[in-house]
Amino acid sequence: MSNKAKLKINDSEIELNLIEGSEQEIGIDISSLRLKSNVITLDPGYKNTGSCKSSITFLDGEKGILRYRGYSIEELASKADFLEVAYLLIFGELPNKQQLEKLSNDIKERSIIDEDLRIILNSFPKSAHPMGILSSLTSGLVAFDPSAVNIDDEEDMYDAILNLLAKIPVLVAWVYRRRKGLPLEYGDTSLAYVENLAKMMFQRPNKEYVQNDTIVSALNKLLILHADHEQNCSTSTVRIVGSSYAGLFASVAAGISALWGRLHGGANQAVIEMLEEIQKDGGDTKKFMSKAKDKSDPFRLMGFGHRVYKNFDPRAKIIKVEADKVLNELGINDPILDIAKGLEKEALIDNYFIERKLYPNVDFYSGIIYKALEIPSEMFTVMFALGRLPGWVAHWREMRINKEPIGRPRQIYTGEKLRKFSEINNR
Ligand code: SDX
Repeated sequence: MSNKAKLKINDSEIELNLIEGSEQEIGIDISSLRLKSNVITLDPGYKNTGSCKSSITFLDGEKGILRYRGYSIEELASKADFLEVAYLLIFGELPNKQQLEKLSNDIKERSIIDEDLRIILNSFPKSAHPMGILSSLTSGLVAFDPSAVNIDDEEDMYDAILNLLAKIPVLVAWVYRRRKGLPLEYGDTSLAYVENLAKMMFQRPNKEYVQNDTIVSALNKLLILHADHEQNCSTSTVRIVGSSYAGLFASVAAGISALWGRLHGGANQAVIEMLEEIQKDGGDTKKFMSKAKDKSDPFRLMGFGHRVYKNFDPRAKIIKVEADKVLNELGINDPILDIAKGLEKEALIDNYFIERKLYPNVDFYSGIIYKALEIPSEMFTVMFALGRLPGWVAHWREMRINKEPIGRPRQIYTGEKLRKFSEINNR
């Protein structure tokens, strides 16, 4: 295969380098395009444009493949725990026993939050959306740890990363408990990461906390499934914000805001609201399928479709099985699970969805499990953010270590040509 691409523009022709990834993906390196031809490319939504080279996660949208540092999502979801996966994504290898123990202990050392952050939390109205609170509190952490990360100092980078991994679960639990009107609690440093999260969230002040292993196992799996997804909207946000040398906390706070959107991580909340709307409307899934296909109707089948997966989202397959398991083990019969399965069945044989290769994505079934765990729907995207945290950190670290340039896309201007200023009395 030649390692050059030829581009003919009018009567000039330029050569551009081709680069090949470790999974034989081919990219045209256009970093010299404007210099050589004085033209740029245009690609709204970056559907055809790579922003970087990365060794963290590999997706194959046609084959429905997802791997973190070469390990399949199926293996990791069934055999690993979330902290192992966080270590893998951030540092590139699965930890051995000593490394995992050190990571866990170092996190416990950092899991106390300055009491003044409670003042900021309590200043929000109870009705404030948890994603807005989480993003603000994440930014607020900078006030208590203002030191900018010295990315040339591994210790400094490790310390900043650990602070985030340690404090975000506490913030997630506090945001959840404030919404439920419960006292803010710390967990128990004798517990492992996900067990501790569950205790911080679900312990009640008036009775002894008893761990529910089904809940812990489901949370562990969900967090792993959400941990990274290469250059999705929120991860690209973390990378571009970090490329200006904004700090790690500020970059992750920006990623949380990007994830909040209902076309992205906010979809898990939108799916449950959609399923409950269908249920309230009498469960007529065919009516909502036609709405989803009607271009004049803004309704979209939330939890369906994906920018990259043009086949099943492998995470959706795993979560669908987990949803059945969790509801059975908790003895819950949730009719919206049947509505979800009905929608999926109809969509898989409907030409509109088949032609557009629209399949259930990670958000389609996850809300059903969170609902079974009695997590309010406004908290679903917060759980997604906690899962995605190690992915955001891994990409921020990779971007800074690779000393990538500040992200600053070009544009094609289509506005007014030069014109003279006119005094207000003449307008
Ligand atoms: C996540 O990028 C990631 O990796 C994200 C994520 C991650 O882990 O980080 O996987 C997490 O964000 C999953 C996606 C969650 N969002 C939703 O479930 C919202 C519903 N889905 C859609 O909004 C849409 O499918 C997107 C946003 C997910 C993808 O949009 P694209 O790639 O820009 O595709 P498109 O909007 O151009 O759609 C192509 C066609 C259009 O029809 P035509 O104009 O060709 O006739 O498919 C149609 C769309 O109207 N379409 C849908 C649809 N999704 C796409 N029609 C009805 N219902 C839908 N859900």
